Amino acid sequence: MLRRFEQLFGVDLGTCNTLIYQEGKGIVLEEPSVVAIQTDTGRIEAIGSEAYAMIGRTPQNLQVIYPLKDGVIANFDMTTAMLKYFINKVNGRNHWFRSSRVIISVPCGITNVQKRAVEEMIVNGSRKSVTIEEPLAAAMGAGLPVDEPVGSMVLDIGGGTSQVALISLGGIVFSKHVPFGGLSIDQDIIEYVKKTYQLIIGERTAEDIKKNATTAMKPDKVLHMDIRGRDLVEGLPKTISISSNEIDDILDNFFILIVDSIRQAMEQCPPELAGDIMERGILLCGGGALLNGLDRRLQKETGVPVHLAENPMECIVMGTGKMLSYNAS
Ligand SMILES: Nc1ncnc2c1ncn2[C@@H]1O[C@H](COP(=O)(O)OP(=O)(O)OP(=O)(O)O)[C@@H](O)[C@H]1O
Ligand SMILES: [Mg+2]
Repeated sequence: MLRRFEQLFGVDLGTCNTLIYQEGKGIVLEEPSVVAIQTDTGRIEAIGSEAYAMIGRTPQNLQVIYPLKDGVIANFDMTTAMLKYFINKVNGRNHWFRSSRVIISVPCGITNVQKRAVEEMIVNGSRKSVTIEEPLAAAMGAGLPVDEPVGSMVLDIGGGTSQVALISLGGIVFSKHVPFGGLSIDQDIIEYVKKTYQLIIGERTAEDIKKNATTAMKPDKVLHMDIRGRDLVEGLPKTISISSNEIDDILDNFFILIVDSIRQAMEQCPPELAGDIMERGILLCGGGALLNGLDRRLQKETGVPVHLAENPMECIVMGTGKMLSYNAS
């Protein structure tokens, strides 16, 4: 009977974005995982979208931080405050998680201490929490037959991490995780522009370049983009034009790492499962999956079919939503 008063939530707590699924409603929240704090007092000024809008525009006494790093909690208090704020936003102010069950996704291969930190954060407020590995959640969210004796492979390219996992019979057979994702590409772009053009650009500009002037698969049409920054020598604002050819060279190292992880996963595959993957392909998800041409490039370099998920950034949270119905009893 009590269950009728319980709220059921699925949470994808990512380095860049947090998504919340509420049973009966679907995805109810999608916000950047960032917090703006006062540097002197540590007081929280803004969370989520509001804090994200401040990136690169803060006065000296304000700082925007990502409380998660490489997919795991780096700042426990800030992550708790952020999640509490998000849940209050969807659930009203009066009780955070008190009569709720939560399924929260975690990266593969995290330590028990890291996993316990996530569970403790949730249990502080809720009646029960369960963690699920992100690639498994992503596969469920995309509708792959995870429970069947057939191999599925998922490649999730997030903001802080990228993970490839082989799944069969409801479990992870092999997983490989690299601590690089969209954020490290942004940093590489910032470094490149600084070195080549003596121009300082912000994180938001670097992210724009990545989204709009990248072609992972050559020889796609060369793209050009005007970008604004601050001249390193003169200190004045300056605009330059950058081409996708330049950016693609920066991304090469990242692609090599990703292709290498796929190769390792394929090498670890028992022969029957390898046959399944060759036939059914790899599911590509996470925000990084949206890099222009990435699916075709990975397919070409690995020889394995690669399918871009329908909603790459929502697969994991949709999977936690599906898990809710299994765990509801
Ligand atoms: N169209 C796009 N092209 C390229 N990259 C994109 C695009 N849209 C979003 N991204 C990138 O995707 C990343 C965020 O993806 P996602 O929300 O899956 O990460 P996350 O789950 O928060 O991180 P993690 O899984 O590593 O903890 C960001 O680096 C963002 O810049
Ligand atoms: Mg993620």
